[in-house]
Amino acid sequence: MTSGQIRESYIKFFEGRGHIKIEPAPLVLENDPTTLFTSAGMQPLIPYLKGEPHPKGKRLVDIQPSLRLQDIEEVGDASHTTFFEMLGNWSLGDYFKKEQLSWCWEFFTKELGLEAERLYVSVFEGTKEVPKDTESAEVWKSLGVPEERIFYYGVDKNWWSRSGTPEAMPEGEIGGPDSEVFFEFEDVKHDKKFGEECHPNCQCGRFMEIGNSVFIQYEKKEDGTLSELPQKNVDFGGGLERMAAVVNGYSDVFLTDVYEPAIKAIEKKTGVDYASSEENAIDFRVIADHL
Ligand code: SER
Repeated sequence: MTSGQIRESYIKFFEGRGHIKIEPAPLVLENDPTTLFTSAGMQPLIPYLKGEPHPKGKRLVDIQPSLRLQDIEEVGDASHTTFFEMLGNWSLGDYFKKEQLSWCWEFFTKELGLEAERLYVSVFEGTKEVPKDTESAEVWKSLGVPEERIFYYGVDKNWWSRSGTPEAMPEGEIGGPDSEVFFEFEDVKHDKKFGEECHPNCQCGRFMEIGNSVFIQYEKKEDGTLSELPQKNVDFGGGLERMAAVVNGYSDVFLTDVYEPAIKAIEKKTGVDYASSEENAIDFRVIADHL
C-alpha cells in the first residue's frame, strides 16, 4: 500500500462511520500564540475539545501536517521525524473508548491488513487523581488482544497533552490518558543497551508506535489540579509515515515512498548508498527529515 492509498482508506473508513472531513490547519497557526508550529491535530481543535460546538459536527476526520521540534534530537533513528502527517479522528463529546478502540483495531487489522498477533497495546496505569484505565483494557480484551499484549504505563508514556505529564501542563491546557498501538518487528532483535527486557515502549526498534487514542477529558486548573471538561473527547492520531512503513514490512520509515525521493536525491548528490552503513543512514535520515 502506498502512503496515498493509506490516506484515502483512512478518510473513507471514518467517513463511513459518520465523520466529516475537515481541512488541515496551516503549519504556522493563526491566532494561537501558544506554540510556533502546529504540533498535533488537536491544536486547531482546542476550543471544540473544550466544549464550543464545531460547525461540522461532533465526528471529524483529518490529516494534519505537524512539526515537533522537541523531537529533533531523536531524528536519526528509524522512526522519529520532526515533520509528519497525522491521521486523526475526533469525537467532540460523542463516542468514547469502546467505539474508538474497536474502530482503531478494525482499521489496523482489516483496512491495513496488519497481523493481529504483531499488535501490542498500552493503557494508562493511573495516578492519585486519575483512575487506572481498566475500561480500555477491557475493550482491548473484548477485541481479542490477550492480556500479555496489553501493557500499563504511567504519565510519561500514557498521558497526552501538548506539554506532557499532568504536572507539566500549564493552567488551561487540556489532556488525558491515552491508549497506544504498537507494531512488533519480529526480525529486529532486542538490544540490551536499551534495557534488560524488551517491551512496546522500548527504544531498541523492535516495536513501533503506530497510533494513539487520547481520551481528552481534563483541563489543568489554576490550583494545579485537573478538572473534568464539560465533555469527554477522543483525539486519535497516527503517523502516516509509520503506517506506511509497517504495512509494507519496513522497520524504517525512511524506506517508505514518502521519503524515497529525498533518500534517492541524497544518494545521487553524495554518491553514497543509504543502506551502506548505519552511520550513513543516520546522516541520511537527518538530512531527509530536515528537507
Ligand atoms: N494528540 C495525540 C498525539 O499527538 C493523538 O493525536 O499523539
